Amino acid sequence: MFKKFFCFIILLVFSNCNKIIDNTEDKSLRKYAKNSNILIGTAIESIQLEDIKFAETLKREFNYITPENSMKWGFIHSKRYEFDFDRADKIVDFALKNNMKVRGHTLIWHIENPEWLLKLENDTSVNFENILAYHIKTVVKHYKGKVYAWDVINEALEYNRYKETFWYKNIGEDYIEKALKWTHKEDPNAKLFINDNMIEEINPKSDFLYELVNNLLSKNVPLDGIGFQFHLKLNNSLDMESVEKNIKRFLELGLEINFTEVDIETEGELTEEKLEKQATIYKKLMILVKKYDKVTAFTTWGLSDKYSWIVREYDNKNPGLIFDEEFNPKLAYYKIKEILQLP
Ligand code: GLA
Repeated sequence: MFKKFFCFIILLVFSNCNKIIDNTEDKSLRKYAKNSNILIGTAIESIQLEDIKFAETLKREFNYITPENSMKWGFIHSKRYEFDFDRADKIVDFALKNNMKVRGHTLIWHIENPEWLLKLENDTSVNFENILAYHIKTVVKHYKGKVYAWDVINEALEYNRYKETFWYKNIGEDYIEKALKWTHKEDPNAKLFINDNMIEEINPKSDFLYELVNNLLSKNVPLDGIGFQFHLKLNNSLDMESVEKNIKRFLELGLEINFTEVDIETEGELTEEKLEKQATIYKKLMILVKKYDKVTAFTTWGLSDKYSWIVREYDNKNPGLIFDEEFNPKLAYYKIKEILQLP
């Protein structure tokens, strides 16, 4: 009798476990995001796809992928006359096979550039426009029809002016306009974005960007949207009213907005209170995405704390993504889902 009862309990637990798993799959972020026409994304490296738990979570929960590093110059164009598409191709193939969209990141950034390029600086015999145009043409052509949106320019601004990057110094401020045009020419269907950090609120940097973008649009330069990165720290929370006002003014220009690199780093020991605060910020961000039709994507900069750049670069074990190191959803996951599933 006792044996029977014991077996019954085991069976009950087991069948409920299965139900829980089924439920999770059926009620994934991806499923709700699709119903709301929202792209829910994350940034990845191709090697992470070999981690079965990672790949399963990725397929189940997300419909948008950003290659975290493999499309940056230092990886894809590390030799002057050669391109290495291998790592990025693996990511793009995985995405397309699993019905996900790809965000190309990035055609221009001031960091992670190859030695051969940096060495050319100040060489007056070099035609820098040709080098940039050739890079953009080759990469965009390779991914034509496969990359849904490009971060054409990443982090071009510094406080209230242009950042004095390699391309700014060697081509001039027009490099932005030219890069957008070259990208559009190569793949007219790809959506083109300018992506930056610390432009989420109304401040001198977002004011400068607003003027810059207004000017580009008045000249009919192809541009579809702005990427707001949202790399946040728990203790420096944003003024959400200012964020919303800022979103509205860019939307009024006819642009889309994507949240492109969300993470909410916590310092010190991780407590329930910190997790709750973090979850509340995630929720507030998702409320904005859900509220505005043209805020079309929400991407976290990494899927699980296991692989976050913040762990790698700052040795902080609490980088604030929505899955922990074991791929268990955190409170933030449930909070954003709560908003995503609203009608
Ligand atoms: C920026 C870049 C990303 C990423 C992060 C972290 O936000 O846009 O590509 O590298 O920094 O390093």
